[in-house]
This record gives sequence, structure tokens and C-alpha cells, in this order.
Amino acid sequence: MQTPIISATTTPYLEQVAAEFQLPLLTESDAPYQLHWSQEKDTLALVQTDLPKQTGVKVDFLDAAVNYRRANISVKNELIARACGLKGQQRPSIIDATAGLGRDAFILAALGCKVTLIERTPAVAALLFDGLRRARLHPDLSDWISQRMQLIYANALQLSEIKQKRQLKADVVYLDPMFPHKKKSAAVKKEMKSFQGLVGADADADLLLPQAKSCASKRVVVKRPGYANFINDETPDFSVKSKKHRFDVYLTMTEQEN
Ligand SMILES: C[S@@+](CC[C@H](N)C(=O)[O-])C[C@H]1O[C@@H](n2cnc3c(N)ncnc32)[C@H](O)[C@@H]1O
Repeated sequence: MQTPIISATTTPYLEQVAAEFQLPLLTESDAPYQLHWSQEKDTLALVQTDLPKQTGVKVDFLDAAVNYRRANISVKNELIARACGLKGQQRPSIIDATAGLGRDAFILAALGCKVTLIERTPAVAALLFDGLRRARLHPDLSDWISQRMQLIYANALQLSEIKQKRQLKADVVYLDPMFPHKKKSAAVKKEMKSFQGLVGADADADLLLPQAKSCASKRVVVKRPGYANFINDETPDFSVKSKKHRFDVYLTMTEQEN
């Protein structure tokens, strides 16, 4: 079932979002997942209707925690930066082919990389679109966000065609598909449960690796939970590990020779 946008009033902006991501714009619905528009907060948020007391999932690059991380950001302290090959003044161009809520892409962009975000789930792409719009309007981010973060609503299983058609640059292709959670981690926040419920399990994730390898000029980086197997059962050249996650790095032939 499609995720409707629920709003008391229709605005040109909501009509644009509805058309762009083929989402119905309604005043009410019994759909299990809905995007609620708050005029007051100027924000779209994903809501799972059978979960009580939830604030909804939104893309907020101005959130206090994100702001703090951005203010203190450095290549040295971000494992994702090391995995993607940022060092000194080097800032690779990156395609984030499973953009989700754009948190990883934002870190890479805040460090100076140009990042193309590809997302295929319509409601998630709409949340990203909305988050990027608000970020572009904010004085702290407006001078770099549109230059460094570009959203494409598409399925990355067609990455080669998308890259060619849009003339994208990709030193690095970054992948972070959904991975089934261990039973123990049922403590995932209510909000994230609705995100996981809507998106599902990305059962075709293995197919992304060959696509990514054919598009990246330097490396493919795959984020996995620490306990997960390698994507497509392919052993990486190396992994960068944190407590909970692993970034598996697959170097292209040219990079291996360097
Ligand atoms: C775990 S989330 C990514 C989280 C993201 N790294 C972040 O920092 O917010 C995975 C996302 O990848 C998207 N996805 C999975 N396969 C995709 C594909 N073939 N093309 C585009 N998006 C895809 C899913 O819809 C989901 O939103």
C-alpha cells in the first residue's frame, strides 16, 4: 500500500512532493504508514498508525545531536571517513546508493565530499527531499548543502544507467542496505521500528555490490552490523570496525595497484 501524505490543507509544496514521489495527498487515511505534514514545524514525518505516542521519523540535519557532531567533525574521528578514503585534503566524490535518512551522507558532505544520494522507497525519498529543503534554508548549512548533497529518487540496482544518464562522478560507492536485526536489539527506538517496518528487509541487497563495483573508480564501502556476513558473500580488501558496525572496503584494481 502506498504511504499517503496527510495534511489538513493542500499547499503547492505538498503537491510538488506528492507528484515527485507518486504519493497520494489526503486529509485522512487508514494506511498503516503515513507521512504527516506539520504546518507549524514545516516538516514531514513518517508515522506508523498502530504505534501510540510517537513523534514520527523525520530527516533533520539541524537536530541538536547532528549539529554537535558537525561542529566537532574531523576525518580522524569518523570511521566512515577513513573507510571512504578521505585524508589530508582528499575529498572523494561519493554515490550513497542506499541513502535512507541521509545521516551517513550528511557526515561525508559535512567533511567536504560531494555526495549523490539515491533512495528508492518513495516515502523515505520524500522525507529526504523535505530535510534537504529545510537544510538549504538554514544559514548554517545553506552555503554548502546544495553544492554537496543531491538527491535522486531511483533504484540503485540500475546504478550504471543512472550514473551515465546523470553524468555522476563516483570515486566511491557507499552501501548501507537494511540488515535483519538480531532479536536482542528489539530495543530499537519506536521511531526506527516504523522506518524498518516501512522499508522492509532489502532482500536484494547482494545485487548492489556488482553494480557498485562497476561504477566506483576507487572503492566500494559497505556498512554492516558487526555480526553480519559479507555482502554477496564477497570478502573485502579490508574492514574498518567500530563497536557495533563494520565498514567493508572493496578496492578497485587501480586502487589495489596504488
Ligand atoms: C539502512 S537504510 C540506510 C541508512 C543511511 N545510511 C543513513 O545514514 O540514514 C537503507 C536504505 O536503503 C534504501 N535502499 C535499499 N536498496 C536500495 C536500492 N536498490 N536503491 C535505492 N535505495 C535502496 C532503503 O529504501 C533504505 O531507505
